[in-house]
Amino acid sequence: MLKKLQLQNFRNYDKKDFEFEGLTTVVIGPNTSGKTNLVESIYLLAFGKSFRTDKDAQMLKFSEEIGRVKGKTEDTELEVVLTNGFLYGQKSQYKKFLVNGVSKRKVDFQGNFSVVMFSPQDLEIIIESPSLRRNFLDEVLEQVDKSYRVDITSYNKALRQRNALLELARDTGVRNEKQFEYWNELLIKHGQNITNKREEFITFANNSQKTIFDFLINYDKSIISEERLNQYREAEVGAGVTLVGPHRDDFSVSMFNKADDSTHDIKYFGSRGQQRLAILQLKHIEIEYIENALGKRPTFVLDDIFSELDEGHIGLILEILGEQQTIITTTHKEFLPKEIIDKVQLIKFVKEV
Ligand SMILES: Nc1ncnc2c1ncn2[C@@H]1O[C@H](COP(=O)(O)OP(=O)(O)O)[C@@H](O)[C@H]1O
Ligand SMILES: [Mg+2]
Repeated sequence: MLKKLQLQNFRNYDKKDFEFEGLTTVVIGPNTSGKTNLVESIYLLAFGKSFRTDKDAQMLKFSEEIGRVKGKTEDTELEVVLTNGFLYGQKSQYKKFLVNGVSKRKVDFQGNFSVVMFSPQDLEIIIESPSLRRNFLDEVLEQVDKSYRVDITSYNKALRQRNALLELARDTGVRNEKQFEYWNELLIKHGQNITNKREEFITFANNSQKTIFDFLINYDKSIISEERLNQYREAEVGAGVTLVGPHRDDFSVSMFNKADDSTHDIKYFGSRGQQRLAILQLKHIEIEYIENALGKRPTFVLDDIFSELDEGHIGLILEILGEQQTIITTTHKEFLPKEIIDKVQLIKFVKEV
């Protein structure tokens, strides 16, 4: 559980401390009062990155040089130091990670505190681009498995290098086979690990009991192997990018039609309501998978989601309050039943902070 959070020069915050009491906290504040920024800082403590930007310096308060997010769980102090790339006139790293005051690499920083987030953009997971679905898989797996985090980091690095070689081959007509061999080997090794672990999670999801909405996930994997790379050899030089591997993975979600025992892709055949139920179910599975792997439930963070959902959907979310730490942000407390509001910790943002 996250007990304390201190923000310093983070987004719109100068300096602000939060203490989380009890299992459920509801943060109420008007638009632009800093709710999503608060949620982003909590996400940063779990993942070591933002969910809405890859440019870390954007999280730093405008025109500041250094900022901090510090969090305290029952037994661990986590800190991310942010800079704009320059500190006291010297070039510096954009991000630094500390666990109990000791500097760590990102792969070792992650895994100390876990979060399942639910924000309006998650409502697009099933219907929008495949990168959202890959991101969903990575969020689950990165939190429970250090070797997966290492595989992802190494794979992405090898992919960048190999794509640069392909571009060079396209522009010059010369292939540096020795270098290709080196990066291919790394790409295949880490890529196959990623595929296997994604497959494991999808099998878990398909075997898990679904009380919200029943579905079947179909893993549309892009297998990477020596044969496959050979097969795409010419096409890749033409394209200048690597055409096979888990960076091209996708999955689809199918619902069951009881009448004739057929299955249908929710993306094309599901109603908006069914798509949302499926997302709720996916999030629930995410929580259970993490609990299963780590032996404790992650903190559940809901950012301004209630304005997007109807009463029935909200009711399903409220059913799991009390089963883990839950932090909810909302513009109006009226989105939650009075019995719940009376029992939870309330934090109010009165105006822009
Ligand atoms: N790096 C930054 N420095 C200062 N302010 C920022 C920065 N990034 C965003 N903001 C501001 O933070 C404010 C609150 O944003 P947000 O947390 O998204 O509000 P909401 O409560 O609607 O979720 C916005 O007015 C935005 O312009
Ligand atoms: Mg917001």
